[in-house]
Amino acid sequence: MKHLACILLCISVFKYAIGQNSQTNTIPAATPLMGWMSWNFFGDNITEQSIKEMADAMVASGMRDAGYTYIFIDDGWQGGRDNKNNLIADAKKFPSGIKALADYVHSKGLKLGIYSDAALLTCAGYTASLHFEEQDAKTFATWQVDYLKYDYCHAPIDSNTAKSRYLTMSDALKKTNRQILFGICEWGERQPWLWAAQAGGHLWRTTLDIRDKWQMKPTETWGLGIMDILDANAGLHKYAGPGHWNDADMLIAGLYGKKGPSADGGGTGCSDTEYQSQFSIWALMAAPLYASNDLRNMNEATKKILLNADIIAINQDTLGKQAVRIINDSVWNVFVKPLHNGDYAVAILNKSEAQKNCNLSFASLGLKHKYQIKDLWLHKNVGHGKIYNGIIQSHETKVFRLKTIYE
Ligand code: GLA
Repeated sequence: MKHLACILLCISVFKYAIGQNSQTNTIPAATPLMGWMSWNFFGDNITEQSIKEMADAMVASGMRDAGYTYIFIDDGWQGGRDNKNNLIADAKKFPSGIKALADYVHSKGLKLGIYSDAALLTCAGYTASLHFEEQDAKTFATWQVDYLKYDYCHAPIDSNTAKSRYLTMSDALKKTNRQILFGICEWGERQPWLWAAQAGGHLWRTTLDIRDKWQMKPTETWGLGIMDILDANAGLHKYAGPGHWNDADMLIAGLYGKKGPSADGGGTGCSDTEYQSQFSIWALMAAPLYASNDLRNMNEATKKILLNADIIAINQDTLGKQAVRIINDSVWNVFVKPLHNGDYAVAILNKSEAQKNCNLSFASLGLKHKYQIKDLWLHKNVGHGKIYNGIIQSHETKVFRLKTIYE
């Protein structure tokens, strides 16, 4: 009898353990989403052909295998509604329709994201989903879409309307029985970190759109750069976690100020060092990583940034913690992100206009042990101990993975 009780107990403990595991493995958006988004490079000049080419390039460049799973079609795909009020794609831009495109993208081992807005028109003036939420969600599910970015242009400014419009669409998506992840995009204006997860969001934009620039100049009235978004997003660490992320907008690596909406608002381009810094800090902030450059024509510097597997591993770490910014003075920004195996990622950004010597004791960050220090841009161990001492260039970010040395 005793044995039987013990066996039954063991079985239920085992089942519980399995249940827990499968739950964490299957929660939607368990780690920050990764992909490519059409807006910054193309604006609304997207076509079936160009999206297919990006999917091909995602595979050929090795990005898919590095973890970039989603092809996100942004604004500009819509062609109005048919005589049954079904949302349809622009027949000139997408002659084969979105379902065929989704099939193509899926055949490459990728997923497809689409875009709409919680009003009558989208930000770029196309047909949007207000009053047609259930019908549009069904359409997206029929097309086998995997993600919806839901924007908020032309919608009332108050928070209650926003919450209820987002909830209406997320309920409509759930009713379809297809798993369609939901991206809330009201630009951080109604503190979505406080309510967007309850409204069904798997992530929410925390700021206005990024432009291809390092930082807004005092003379500029609009156009956020990397540093502006970093500052807005850094303090929101406690709201991020598996299934619900702070979205700091697209990566701008490789755009070089050349084309598309990110070139407006003073977006004249950044240096590769600055693009590398954005990638580093976004990775530590557990932000979704969406490239937005032309994947078909990437130079080596851009590939080196977007394909850095050591940095991607920090972003995709299963513990799902957003780094805490521990130091923010006139020269340094230092971020610390705990990782699931007990390691820490530490990013040190030199904000200043000159190269600086960095002499940082890990204890000052609350990291009290001795560590083996791996430089994730050099991909090698650069020492061990309790401090980092080295030169960091202007606007450069060093990222280290620290492994405790137990003595
Ligand atoms: C808003 C969003 C952008 C993009 C455009 C499309 O500005 O914040 O990310 O989706 O709309 O019109």
